[in-house]
Amino acid sequence: MAMQSVTVRVPAKINLALAVGARGADGYHPITTVYQAVDLCDEIRATESDDGAITLSVTYDGRVATETAQVPLDEDNLAYRAAALLRQRAGIDSGLTMAIRKAIPVSGGMAGGSADAAAALVAADAVWGLGTPRSDLLTLAGELGSDVPFCLVGGTAMGTGRGDQVSPVLARGSYCWVLGLADSGLSTPEVYAEFDRLNKKAPPTASEIPPALLAALRAADPAALGAVLSNDLTDAALSLRPELTETLAVGDDCGALGAAVSGSGPTTMFLASDEEHALDIALALTHAGVCADVVQAIGPAPGARIIA
Ligand code: C5P
Repeated sequence: MAMQSVTVRVPAKINLALAVGARGADGYHPITTVYQAVDLCDEIRATESDDGAITLSVTYDGRVATETAQVPLDEDNLAYRAAALLRQRAGIDSGLTMAIRKAIPVSGGMAGGSADAAAALVAADAVWGLGTPRSDLLTLAGELGSDVPFCLVGGTAMGTGRGDQVSPVLARGSYCWVLGLADSGLSTPEVYAEFDRLNKKAPPTASEIPPALLAALRAADPAALGAVLSNDLTDAALSLRPELTETLAVGDDCGALGAAVSGSGPTTMFLASDEEHALDIALALTHAGVCADVVQAIGPAPGARIIA
């Protein structure tokens, strides 16, 4: 009998706003964020295996940060953990072979590992024919990592708690982003630790999501959105990677509507008014030699979904 296979596509995320409070007793920082999924996507081809093993292989689409930051192929990989968690909760002993095609930068502040976990949940659920309710998948996603639930949902959404409590925001229009990729990643725990160090004297009180940001999304107004992008992890990311200051300045100088660090970095993000403007910004960043690679992406994009 032919083994059941599916292909799942899953988007990267950026944070349009990221407000971070003081680290709690659970080791996590309470955050309020507005996520947007963008069409820079990983894909997982998953096939049922008859030996009961979960295995994975990874290919990279040729972008930077892949030679220095290869993802693990064992149970340290979040996609592996996602399939194993679903299998355990479903009380089955089926196996799964996953072939992951990565385009999302590794340790780039764009939820690459979390995206693969979300895709693995969707793929394993389909291949094993479980029909797990959406709400249960979201609960499992939250156990796997703070950004995993959003990677299932996609679009534009508010994240609270550790980022794992996802609720809809009213957003219209689509947005042209230019992403500046670095040649090596940043560890999210290290960026949060640097955030703690920088805020040691005065415990941080999370900034608010600017009301103007939600108004800009309702109005599909990229210029208004660009003016209010915000990220409380910026100082920590710049402290660990000072050269990002120049990258952001180049984006500003070439007329980006807004420039910010994506999540915990080191990816930088620049908002353009349209695709032609995005190309201008991409060329300026490339010409200035401040990024290892430059990618254009459109948001919002749908969350993890079966495409074949
Ligand atoms: O949830 P996730 O496994 O992606 O988080 C990775 C690490 O990032 C955590 O162990 C923690 O150090 C840090 N983190 C945090 N506060 C958050 C999310 C992540 O401190 N809200």
